[in-house]
Amino acid sequence: MAREVLDLLDPSERGFYLDGTVGGGGHARAILDACADCRVLAVDRDPEALAEARETLAPYRSRVRFLAERFDRAPRDPEARDRGLDGALLDLGVSSHQLDADERGFTFRRGAPLDMRMGPGAKSDARTLLVEASEAELARIFRDYGEEPRARRLAREVVKRRSTERLSTSDDLVAALSVVLGRAPSVKEKARIFQALRIAVNEEMEALEAGLPAIRDVMNGGAVLVVIAYHSLEDRAVKNAFREWSRACVCPVESPVCTCRGEPLGETLTRKVMRPSDEEVARNPRARSARLRAWRRAA
Ligand SMILES: C[S@@+](CC[C@H](N)C(=O)[O-])C[C@H]1O[C@@H](n2cnc3c(N)ncnc32)[C@H](O)[C@@H]1O
Repeated sequence: MAREVLDLLDPSERGFYLDGTVGGGGHARAILDACADCRVLAVDRDPEALAEARETLAPYRSRVRFLAERFDRAPRDPEARDRGLDGALLDLGVSSHQLDADERGFTFRRGAPLDMRMGPGAKSDARTLLVEASEAELARIFRDYGEEPRARRLAREVVKRRSTERLSTSDDLVAALSVVLGRAPSVKEKARIFQALRIAVNEEMEALEAGLPAIRDVMNGGAVLVVIAYHSLEDRAVKNAFREWSRACVCPVESPVCTCRGEPLGETLTRKVMRPSDEEVARNPRARSARLRAWRRAA
């Protein structure tokens, strides 16, 4: 959704932009191409992604600064804090590079290790989570992050298996899912479960919930925040945050008079969520679940 991102960010000369999930650097390059003097703070928690972005963005070296960090910590960057951002982008989730590298363990392709850590900051890998989390916690992860209707049964099966067998590769998790379903799972069913684990391993919801207000607070007046989410839970968090920041009054309903700030912090620019075109999905099937929302800070 590169066109939509650029239209919304509308990068200006001498502007300073945050790409909080720079990945392979495609969006950052488009921002840098759109204006001769603007600069980008390119952030990714994955050192491999940053290495790839460094290559992609080599021709713009004087206008990019790289930061290996979670995006919710990017607002602590002295320049972002003191100068303020003129726009920010979060293109959430995993990159194709991460999905395609079997050894990183994001995939359910056969024999892949259960790792899924996006970077060194993750508390544990997927295998450790599966082995150490309580049955209730596993059920919550499969239900909330994977929207798996049989979350409790799958959690029970994992707990049963881990006492007698090794849980170390994608095959072991797929085997547990097959027992619960009573058949081989479809690609979609496997993808949901692997996505759920990945979100938990990398504390992706925590990073998003903390990152949205932290980034908002270092945005200059008129700056736009664009977020592309790939999961309904993420998208709901973005939608709710933007709605809350766009309200004039945030006093509790029982409050007789308004005692809050009384004016909105900004406005939501996407009244309806934006989805990729059929043409984009045909070109890049991984974009099919993308949902884009944007918000502008009041001047
Ligand atoms: C969908 S890809 C971004 C692709 C990028 N927009 C491009 O044009 O190539 C998502 C990237 O965000 C990174 N990421 C995900 N969550 C993050 C977080 N909380 N903080 C920093 N980086 C994160 C991942 O490591 C991955 O490289």
